[in-house]
Parts: sequence; C-alpha cells; structure tokens
Amino acid sequence: MPPSQAATVAPARRLRGRLRVPGDKSIAHRYAILGALAEGRTTLAHFAPGADCRSTLACLRGLGVDVEDTADGAVTLLGRGFGRLRSPSAPLDAGNSGTTMRLVAGVAAGHPFATTIAGDASLSRRPMRRIIAPLGRMGARVDAMDGHPPLTIHGAALHAIAHEPETPSAQVKSAVLLAGLHAEGVTSVKEPSPTRDHTERALIAFGGEVTVDGLIVSVPGGQRLTGRSLDVPGDFSSAAFWLAAAAALPGSRVEIEDVGLNPTRTALLHVLERFGARVVVEVAGEEANEPRGTIIVEGDRTGAVDVGPDEVPLLIDELPAIAALAAHGGRVDVRGAGELRVKESDRIAVLVSGLRALGIEADERPDGYSIGGAARGARPAGGVADARGDHRMAMAFAIAALAAERPSTIAGADAVVISYPGFFETLERLVS
Ligand code: S3P
Repeated sequence: MPPSQAATVAPARRLRGRLRVPGDKSIAHRYAILGALAEGRTTLAHFAPGADCRSTLACLRGLGVDVEDTADGAVTLLGRGFGRLRSPSAPLDAGNSGTTMRLVAGVAAGHPFATTIAGDASLSRRPMRRIIAPLGRMGARVDAMDGHPPLTIHGAALHAIAHEPETPSAQVKSAVLLAGLHAEGVTSVKEPSPTRDHTERALIAFGGEVTVDGLIVSVPGGQRLTGRSLDVPGDFSSAAFWLAAAAALPGSRVEIEDVGLNPTRTALLHVLERFGARVVVEVAGEEANEPRGTIIVEGDRTGAVDVGPDEVPLLIDELPAIAALAAHGGRVDVRGAGELRVKESDRIAVLVSGLRALGIEADERPDGYSIGGAARGARPAGGVADARGDHRMAMAFAIAALAAERPSTIAGADAVVISYPGFFETLERLVS
C-alpha cells in the first residue's frame, strides 16, 4: 500500500456547479460478474473507475475471464458461460471491496474447484459468516479465519435453498442469488427489509429470469445469460457528498447529470428535503431497467433530521454524508445503524472521532450517532480528521471541513480512490 496522503480543505460558503460523478460501483460490480457468466461479449461504458471495481475485474481475470480496458473508461469482457470459469492459479485479491469478496464467493461456490479470496486489512476484519452459512447449505464448503477473510471456497454441485438473512444486505442477497444461478432448483432470498435491487435488474438486462414477490427474490438455476453493451449510470452514493454539501450550505446549487435514480438508492433525497433543502429530480430515461437522470439540490436552511432503523438499509452508504450535513449547523440523529460498525471501518466510531477533531459536536451510540447542534453562525474550529483508510469517511470529513473557521487536514484522504478518484479536484472546482 502506498503511504497514506493528506488533503487540505479550506472553508467555503457555498458550492455551485454541474457535474457527472463516476460510474456506479454497485452496478459495475454486477455487470462485470454477469458479463463473465454470460455468453458472448459485454461492453460496459462509464465503468466505475475506483479501485473496488478494479478488484472485481482482477478476480474475474484470475478466474480465466478475458477483460480489456477500452477507450473512454469502458471495459470489455468475454463471457465464459455458466460453470465455465477456470480454477485460479493463485489467491484472488478483493482489495478493500466487500462486494467483490461476497459476490465472487457466490459465483465460485458453483464451480468445482477451490478458490481463495483475500483482502486488505480492513476487509480481513469484516464478517463473512453471513455468506458462509447459506453457501454451505447449498453444498459448498467455505473455510475462513473465525468467520473472516481470507475465504477458501470449495465449490460443488449446488442445490437451491430458501434463505432468510437476519440482517438486510444486498451483498448477501446477491451472493446467494449468484450461487443460485449455478444450483439445481429455484433459490430464493427473503429479506427482512428491502435493499438495493441492482442484481435483480441486471439479471433481466442480461436475458436472465428472476421473480420478485414482495420481499422474496427467486432465481431458477441453469439459465443462460447473453452478453450486453451497457452504459453504467453515475453513482448516487458518490453524488451524495455533493448533494449533502449543497443542502448544508445555504446559497449552494449543485446539479448532477446522468446519475442513477434507482429508488432503492435515492432515500437520501427525502432526508435532504427534511433538512430544509430544495430538491429537483428529472428522470431522463431508463437503461437496463435502471432509471437515470439529473438531480438538482439547492441549500436553503439548516434543519434537524432524525433517521430511524426503518430507513437505514436504503441509506446505509449515505449515512456518512448525512452526518456531514450537520457540521454546518442544524442537527442529525441516526439510530438503528449498527451495521455501520462492520463497513470499511467502524463508521460510527471513526465518524464521531473525526468530526470531533474538526471541532464539531458529535456523540456516539452503540447503533448510531448524534451530530451538530452548533449555534447559528458559529463555525467549528477545524483541525485534523483521520479517515482511517475509509473512502466514505474521507469524503464526509471533507464536506464537514468546509464549515470550519480555518483550513483542515484530512489524513488518509487518498482512500477516495476506492470509489471516487478525482474527488478533491472536483471539490476545488465546486467551491471556487
Ligand atoms: C452494496 C451493499 C451494501 C453497501 C455496499 C455496497 C452492494 O452492503 O453498503 O457499499 O453493492 O451490494 P451490505 O450488503 O453489506 O449492506
């Protein structure tokens, strides 16, 4: 790993501008994986440029898939068809990416060889029993280190299961459905509450079959998928930082073009409205069943928002941006978000300590946090916030630091390469 680098963020009164954000990370992982399992060529324009999706491509290469970068950030894969991935000659490296590890494990479970998948120090701390158990019930054996990576998946002829995860998780749902595509019978997942549904939508786009009945998603095994040419929409979770910053700074106006508008991702917009922002959404159309269009957010006043357990699953990646909202005045209170503790970092502890280091009032609870309450007009002092290697912490601290009296330092700012290379350059453009 290169040494971690810091960024300096100067105070700003408002953000203004119109931009595109990088391609959606969640969608790009799924298109790449389904492209590898499909027959024929898949070309993915605006492929997510961050390190996480590069990790998925590297794992697919390790499994014998021909992957090429083409002009303008597109990626081409030559699909191998179901059950035809090759036994890897070395352990696969999922880097920092939980999505890569869990989804690739689901695919590997249906192949009759052993696949080892390792990750960086952060990924090696993340819980994997949530996929080890269902993949085991389907007939694969997964070795792990006390429920943590590295994983060695001993693939097998799988049989379908009906899985009911305890915790809502799109990664778990997707790992089981991807294994289910390789299984005999119909595999179903019943979620405790809805999570992002990109796997379901992408399967249909690749010519697959999937049934959704309320909270139950089912896939028959033994289907055939066909390679596609697809364009990845902008990542709403990357846009979230600019939308939150615009909402937090009255007088701001940020317009994000060609961004994904899948309703399982856009719950943040309601939170911003509750906080006091003006939000306009223009749906331009749909590609591969994924709506996309333009979002405009104008900051008006800083308010107070409470986020409860029911809302958390569909806001999970936006909770860091929501915390940064209150750095500029107002208050944010989040409950029922214990899952944040098992993300790329313990996002409750890291958020609270980083925001405090910037001079912002922040309190930690076992399952959430309370931020802000700064007196009208009072600005936090600024300081040094450490992202602890977590991309979304680095971006949340950068947005919070705009509120400070003096320039702040974000230690470990280079973590933004995981999902948003160029984040700090874009920030400079939007504040000037
Ligand atoms: C993701 C699902 C979520 C999310 C992660 C991406 C996905 O994780 O936090 O950033 O692409 O499926 P969980 O499934 O663990 O909630």
